[in-house]
Amino acid sequence: LSLHDALPISTSTTMASFNGKQYLVGGNWKCNGTKESTAALVATLNGAGVIPAWVEVAVGVPSIHIASVIGTLRKDISVAAQDCSATGNGAYTGELSAAMLADFGVKWVILGHSERRVNQGETSALVATKTKQALDAGLSVMVCVGESLAEREAGRVNAVVLDDHMAALKGKFSDSEWARIAIAYEPVWAIGTGVTASPEQAQEVHASIRGWLSKNVSPAIAKATRIQYGGSMKGANAAGLLSKPDIDGGLIGGASLKAEFITGVCQNAPEPK
Ligand code: PGA
Repeated sequence: LSLHDALPISTSTTMASFNGKQYLVGGNWKCNGTKESTAALVATLNGAGVIPAWVEVAVGVPSIHIASVIGTLRKDISVAAQDCSATGNGAYTGELSAAMLADFGVKWVILGHSERRVNQGETSALVATKTKQALDAGLSVMVCVGESLAEREAGRVNAVVLDDHMAALKGKFSDSEWARIAIAYEPVWAIGTGVTASPEQAQEVHASIRGWLSKNVSPAIAKATRIQYGGSMKGANAAGLLSKPDIDGGLIGGASLKAEFITGVCQNAPEPK
């Protein structure tokens, strides 16, 4: 099984191999943007130049802006939601179902971001339930995992990332569903802090996540799954991170609100060998 198989011929023939994958670069606009500033950001991204064929791009848009952004954003960038409901449609006041997102043309949803785990108390079990809802609605999912500074300093990186965040996904999805899941490794201490994990630090955890997938899902899924890095990723450090063997993309917050998202991150993604 390979994501390569799902790509249009015209795209796949321009790619070398990269294990048959494209990098996945996600933007995360978080809770930012007026009508005016969002239109300006769309115009900036639309004018930022060519995205290499080996980079798939999606931006996580605040839900109230999704309908307008989907209509105006360049078509080689897809739109992601930043959350979805754990339930379907019905008597769930204030919720936004995955089916509604899919109906509006949303392709991806970011789930389990550490800001939601911390601020909304989202558990790994809830993230797994939301992931299933999203997949059932036809969406693809970036599942965020990652440890806090205190957890890293206590030597608990694998305990948190593998035995809690990843473990909740075990046994829940078919192979064809796993083909629509990406894992975003986002060490909490690197998010919004300007402190980026070094390429070596990130690579170490990415390799552990791929090892977990190989053991707990299958070697084929482990090979095909894109594992993104997130946490103060920007133009200046993208190439170093993306050159590591198990870093298959990024999830970018602050720098996704600027042209740099395209000109610094996407255009600096090294051509797959
Ligand atoms: P940052 O955010 O790039 O601003 O650190 C990353 C994220 O939260 O996804």
